[in-house]
Amino acid sequence: MRARRSLVDLSDLTVPEIYALFDRAEAFEAADPGRLLSGTSCVNLFFEQSTRTFTSFNLAELRLGANVVNLWPKDMSLATKGETIEDTAATLSAMGVNVVVVRHSKPGFPNLIMSAFEGHVINAGDGAHAHPTQGLLDLFTIRREFGRIEGLRVALIGDIVHSRVANSTVNGLLQLGAEVVLVGPEVLLPASYSRDGVEIERDFERMLPEVDVVILLRIQRERFNAETMSDADFIAGYQLNAARLPKLKPGAIVMHPGPYNRGMELDDAVTEFTGWRYARQVHNGVYVRMAVLDFLVNGAA
Ligand code: CP
Repeated sequence: MRARRSLVDLSDLTVPEIYALFDRAEAFEAADPGRLLSGTSCVNLFFEQSTRTFTSFNLAELRLGANVVNLWPKDMSLATKGETIEDTAATLSAMGVNVVVVRHSKPGFPNLIMSAFEGHVINAGDGAHAHPTQGLLDLFTIRREFGRIEGLRVALIGDIVHSRVANSTVNGLLQLGAEVVLVGPEVLLPASYSRDGVEIERDFERMLPEVDVVILLRIQRERFNAETMSDADFIAGYQLNAARLPKLKPGAIVMHPGPYNRGMELDDAVTEFTGWRYARQVHNGVYVRMAVLDFLVNGAA
């Protein structure tokens, strides 16, 4: 048994499909598309905490008229009664569930569901592997700001190694022709991350005047086994703050997938900066997720 078309990472989409999703998201924002998912059943299955992605998918599903079930892992037979995730997925299939949106700490977990589920699976974040709808909403936000993505220089700062957002957003930026600069210390950004189209930069301040977009990332302490870098050292080297904001190129924007930690990767001056685009990202995320749901369920037309 195989899932119908699913979204595990941005590599599942062609470049024309990504642009078509952007157009669809813009159309959905401009005018209520109505109940395009009437009769569609969506299950949201979040094994890890989430504020933005969970709420955003719920709103997107409800605005499109879907039937929505939020299934809490601690209450599932999977948790205590020995049921496998594959058998859980087959059970949801047999009930006529059409879409499963899943977040889990294990990379590849959405594929386990896909192996036993006949509907569409959307990866809402699997460990440090991928978070495709966050990548799409980041790209969408950049395109709305600059009217293009190709040729822009975009920097991602900080904890790259533990970030599924970085993986998906970098893949999307490269697909759409941006130049990518990854910025961080060796422990959070190994030199092996260098590849075609991706530069590694250790000096945050030297990079700031050279980029159009700065994407800050949270230090994911929950994914570390040991303290590999002190907070003080990270802040000294890589925090965006009142002292560093003036070094940005004029017109540059600052983004963050959230949740952000004030006092770590940014200070209060960043959230008051005119180029701070976090709220636009989360706003755009609802329309991008509506577009993804409609595209998977109803097709490209
Ligand atoms: N950006 C993001 O994935 O946030 P949540 O963990 O709150 O969903």
